[in-house]
Amino acid sequence: MENQDGFVPVLEEKELGEGKMKLVSVEGTPVLFIKQYGQIFAVDNRCPHQGCGLSGGTLDALVIVCPCHDWRFDLRTGEYEAEPAFKLKKYDWKVKSEKIWVQLEEET
Ligand code: FES
Repeated sequence: MENQDGFVPVLEEKELGEGKMKLVSVEGTPVLFIKQYGQIFAVDNRCPHQGCGLSGGTLDALVIVCPCHDWRFDLRTGEYEAEPAFKLKKYDWKVKSEKIWVQLEEET
């Protein structure tokens, strides 16, 4: 199921609890959904450093910490705190009909 703007439904909105992460494979791409302070973020699960799965990491306010080498990425921008040129890929998402939809094209 896909509509013309490229968004695909992946989760019931209520499946993503506050302070939680949920890993979903979207057309073969591992997308990690996170809800913090009522805000939803959709990011690539693969760390831009060496590809570790961020779903095994931890949340620290609006930062996700990679489990492999503790790189810290700001969920709002995707930037690695120590070197903003390293960016976590973020995806556009929306809520419609109580579902979370994601678009696999990168946010601009
Ligand atoms: S793979 Fe994520 S910090 Fe190294």
